[in-house]
Amino acid sequence: MSRAADDAGHGSETAGQTTIGGMTTDTPALHLAGLTKHFGAVKAVDGIDLTVGRGEVVAFLGPNGAGKTSTIDMVLGLSTPTAGTVEVLGLRPYDAVGHGLVAAVMQSGGLLKDLTVAETVQLTASLFRSPRGTAEVLGRANLTDIADRRVGLCSGGEQQRLRFALALLPDPELLVLDEPTTGMDVESRRSFWAAIRQDTGRGRTVVFATHYLDEADAYADRIVLVRHGRIVAEGTPAQLKAMSSGRTVRATLPGADQSRLAGLPGVTSVEVRGDTVILQTRDSDAVLRRLLTETGAHDVEVTSRNLEDAFVALTSDTPDDAAALAAPTASTTGSLR
Ligand SMILES: Nc1ncnc2c1ncn2[C@@H]1O[C@H](COP(=O)(O)OP(=O)(O)OP(=O)(O)O)[C@@H](O)[C@H]1O
Ligand SMILES: [Mg+2]
Repeated sequence: MSRAADDAGHGSETAGQTTIGGMTTDTPALHLAGLTKHFGAVKAVDGIDLTVGRGEVVAFLGPNGAGKTSTIDMVLGLSTPTAGTVEVLGLRPYDAVGHGLVAAVMQSGGLLKDLTVAETVQLTASLFRSPRGTAEVLGRANLTDIADRRVGLCSGGEQQRLRFALALLPDPELLVLDEPTTGMDVESRRSFWAAIRQDTGRGRTVVFATHYLDEADAYADRIVLVRHGRIVAEGTPAQLKAMSSGRTVRATLPGADQSRLAGLPGVTSVEVRGDTVILQTRDSDAVLRRLLTETGAHDVEVTSRNLEDAFVALTSDTPDDAAALAAPTASTTGSLR
């Protein structure tokens, strides 16, 4: 039985299936279909299809203006889609929020500086019908030691952990975080994520927006790369890295035979630009050996890529950058869209 269904507040069992509102245990935490948000001529979100399973931790990674916050606002029922649909645990966002099934940690605002950490949690708890206990959420957000500290004296990282504690009060199935660690130092970010990680170990679903590659890499089960309101690639951090972890081999080779080059070991793409050939490969040693012994290739250059290159390539406006990314293969089933 799911954790939410254990909560007698919302759960009931019918014919072996757990239901919460319209939700069954198979219902995804989040389902976006053709989700679109236009602000006049600006296509902030431009047809996003995404399903997030229960218990998944998914990062929305993208540059400024990619549409991350606009998407999150629709998930939380703070704005209405221009087209498409959002389902949170099978419900409309407004109803999911009303049932305490989804909660959010926003970047700033909403805290009273003169209250202590514990008082803030108690005051907010009084707004909920059946909140978790104050001591429990303070513990989960790693705030027990500073429960009596005034909020105004807490560091930025501690204040974010307090927002996290507040979001835990209704014990939501889905927790949404919009750039929760922006402006924090490394240590604060680490302790914020340690608290989140400890909590997600119990099966909570988390969707977070971030600019930080390392954060997406370290804390997400799946990364969704967004750009200009669209998903440009998705996969586990390992899959995205594998997509981009091959090497680029560039050489001068007049009159290159493109199909022959495509047959070289581990080659995933071949591009011929005048006398220059550009190969993407997972086995650059073998490709080099063959190029140098079997063809007239010269001026050979080998470069490697990493997650950052993948991010830059996939979220860049320059077609050359995007083209430089190796296509996904059967062994790395992350997908480029
Ligand atoms: N209320 C609004 N009115 C007009 N344009 C808007 C509005 N909200 C967002 N936009 C535009 O929509 C696009 C997407 O913005 P959004 O805030 O969703 O991006 P983001 O991915 O969250 O960016 P950031 O990383 O900077 O937070 C941007 O071009 C932004 O200027
Ligand atoms: Mg944003």
